[in-house]
Amino acid sequence: MLSSTSILTAFLFVFTSAVLAMVCYDVYKKNRRSSKQVLVEDGLREPPSPKKVPVIGHLHLLGGYEVPYQAFTSLGKKYGNVVRLQLGKVRCVVVNDQRNIREALVTKGHHFDSRPNFQRYKELFSGNKENSLAFCDWSDTQKTRRDMLKAYTFPRAFTNKFASLETLISCGTRSALAQVTPGQVTDLKPIILRGCANIFLNHFCSKNFDYDDAKFAEMVDDFDEIFYEVNQGYAADFLPFLMPLLRRNLDRMGALTRRIRDFVHDKVIEDRYDVFDVETEPSDYVESLIKHVKSGESTELTWETALFALEDIIGGHSAVGNFLVKVFGFLVNLPHVQEKMQEEIDVVVGNREVTIADRSAMPYTEAVIFEAIRLIASPIVPRVANQDSSIDGYRIEQGTVLFLNNYELSMSEKLWERPEEFLPERFIKEGRLVKPEHFLPFGGGRRSCMGYKMVQLVSFGILGGFLQNYTVLPAENESYKVPIGSLALARDTFKFNFARR
Ligand code: HEM
Repeated sequence: MLSSTSILTAFLFVFTSAVLAMVCYDVYKKNRRSSKQVLVEDGLREPPSPKKVPVIGHLHLLGGYEVPYQAFTSLGKKYGNVVRLQLGKVRCVVVNDQRNIREALVTKGHHFDSRPNFQRYKELFSGNKENSLAFCDWSDTQKTRRDMLKAYTFPRAFTNKFASLETLISCGTRSALAQVTPGQVTDLKPIILRGCANIFLNHFCSKNFDYDDAKFAEMVDDFDEIFYEVNQGYAADFLPFLMPLLRRNLDRMGALTRRIRDFVHDKVIEDRYDVFDVETEPSDYVESLIKHVKSGESTELTWETALFALEDIIGGHSAVGNFLVKVFGFLVNLPHVQEKMQEEIDVVVGNREVTIADRSAMPYTEAVIFEAIRLIASPIVPRVANQDSSIDGYRIEQGTVLFLNNYELSMSEKLWERPEEFLPERFIKEGRLVKPEHFLPFGGGRRSCMGYKMVQLVSFGILGGFLQNYTVLPAENESYKVPIGSLALARDTFKFNFARR
């Protein structure tokens, strides 16, 4: 039998153990909570955030501006360079200022290399946004796709690929010029888009089509419509219950995507997959993809995924084409800029054809391209944090969508003199083209634009060729306000008159 002392001792032991256990559990819970709260660095602050309203969060703050990114600049002025927003269901952060944007793109680029998971992206890429080159998250497949593309999108000077691209751009420009009737109103967009499409199809796929080939023209229009669509922002991206409102539009995009796939199968690839001998050197990007898939070099890139990558890169012609039509939209109101370009062409090139090899001697024409890109200020494709991290000492949780305010970098009065004006000279120092550090129209780091060199080369060739032969004049009753904040331009847009020089 137990004595009363031993009963008391036993009771005290059990009681003390229970209290200890409870204290330990509490400490454990607190530790767990705090290890979750302190993310990767100690002493992180929560980014400031305006008052939000139910359901839409801060979405209403983005209204009333010509471009949503102007709202980000206003928020930056009021709340600081890193601002937390709740856009409907999506947790977001706006990042202003060059230093912070570089931190997100480069220094911590590997923390912020995913892309948003909008339902719309999924639907536009056959149910899986990972099919897309620009909207997928970072992965080994993306690394492979980017590595394979480099040789074609960044051809090095003095190589065969560069020489071949030079010829293709000259041919593409010549055939676009042949579509213009001087003195008559010209609908430029289809001409430029088909010219760019042929340059891209030739360069990546060794294929060329007649301007009047109905299937080719249809493919160019289909890409253009999709390009317009992916460049739109919709409230439904943040409020998925609104998706039914986009249904008809998305179904239409699905149909266009399938028609493009048929074109690529029937007119671009044809029987090349079957007949390509993997022991031979690929002659173009199509064969590089075929070789990669057939030789089983890596398992992550299937032929299906490869076809999406191919279509995305062919679709790059819409980006250059839309951009170029916008450049003409600027130039038509800037006769003095046209005159300076023509002077440069006359001095450097004379009567022979302009080629992309002339770029280094023609900084003004190059600067016109930069200045148009700056003023259009298209956004950096939003990034997503793939892990808990920080920017400028502010806590950024995994899964947060990052809007990097490129509009601010392109248009800030602190960074540019008279930022609203078209002044190509701002990019020229001592007769040479210079790109200021804060000019980041193509993003940066491992998700940077894969096509910026193509943009510079193709734009130079086509602009040079057009300005060498023509002066761009307004068409009657046409007004030329170039939309900014996106590269995309509506289908029926600017018409011009071209006067032979
Ligand atoms: C003026 C025209 C263009 C502009 C202003 C532009 C700008 C951009 C920007 C800002 C990004 C996001 C970069 C980032 O997240 O850091 C991007 C991504 C991309 N661009 Fe462009 N781009 C243009 C034309 C092109 C063209 C012609 C092509 C194809 C040849 C192209 C291919 C891509 C691809 C594949 C990506 C996604 C890269 C990735 O996420 O890994 N772009 N572009």
